[in-house]
Amino acid sequence: MKICILPGDGIGPEIMAEAVRVLRMLDLGFEMEEGLLGGCAVDATGDPYPLATQQLAQDADAVLLGAVGGPQWDRLAREQRPERGLLGIRKHLGLFANLRPAILYPELANASTLKSEVVAGLDILIVRELTGDIYFGQPRGIEVRELAGRQERVGFNTMHYSESEIRRIVRVAFEAARQRRRKLCSVDKMNVLETTQLWRDVAEETANEYPDVELSHMLVDNAAMQLVRNPKQFDVIVTGNMFGDILSDEASMLTGSIGMLPSASLDANRKGLYEPCHGSAPDIAGQGVANPLATILSAAMMLRYTFALESSAQRVEQAVKTVLAQGYRTADIHEPGTRKVGTREMGDAVLAAL
Ligand code: IPM
Ligand code: MG
Repeated sequence: MKICILPGDGIGPEIMAEAVRVLRMLDLGFEMEEGLLGGCAVDATGDPYPLATQQLAQDADAVLLGAVGGPQWDRLAREQRPERGLLGIRKHLGLFANLRPAILYPELANASTLKSEVVAGLDILIVRELTGDIYFGQPRGIEVRELAGRQERVGFNTMHYSESEIRRIVRVAFEAARQRRRKLCSVDKMNVLETTQLWRDVAEETANEYPDVELSHMLVDNAAMQLVRNPKQFDVIVTGNMFGDILSDEASMLTGSIGMLPSASLDANRKGLYEPCHGSAPDIAGQGVANPLATILSAAMMLRYTFALESSAQRVEQAVKTVLAQGYRTADIHEPGTRKVGTREMGDAVLAAL
């Protein structure tokens, strides 16, 4: 059971340290090895996803990632940006299925900007395709072209999905819905985009394999609206890479606490990369105030999906619920009457609860 640990940039190393402590405490015999991804890798090697990390990630059964990026790398060429490291590892490992749950913890009900009756009890899962779409389609670029007699720069990306790419992600979503409330909403823009007409057709065809799950379709603009109007109408949402990027940020903020949300990115054989939904928060990096719970919960997802250690996963999730009930809060979720703690103290509290 090999885990590749990639702390990354910004708050990454601080939050990762707490997740690693949790994994060690569980004493399940994991072998953990650390590598570089993102800006720290650019600084050390010139490459956001260096060969040594590729090797490490390939040999591991799972990857646990902190976060990548920061303003000091903003002026680099696109190929060297920390985000390229993230896109690179997703593509390299074939992690096409991104699971992003948005769960409202009752103790944090006031953290949402929405009325509590709209979000109370919220529990939705966004299944985002992660290795295709306009993110990876060719051709892409910025070029000078002759337009109406004058030279102009033109930017272009290609939205691209094959039938098999759509089918495999839709199947993951149907399987997930089966474990939940058996409702799947597929999100597209078929009124405008051919790619997503194909998406809808393939989703419809795949539904025949899952007669026990209710499939519906929604246009992405409407889905964005419905998510804030009445988010509890959803159980599982499946969509492409780009729409999933946007809708998952929206969904995570319904809970008001993006610092709490984990994610899993899986290949076809249970190998996965697990990371918090939030970014590297460079503004608070190094201060010991970041919330480590999303990373700890990502480790729990890893126990569940890659290692099939369901009871250990539940122990970790239960420990997180316990510390919330005990009133421990990092700054991002702090409110009057609760106990404000830093990253390390929050980790201590989770270990104590475990
Ligand atoms: C995410 C992020 C990434 C994405 C960026 C950092 C490349 O926004 O994981 O949602 O767009 O996929
Ligand atoms: Mg995003």
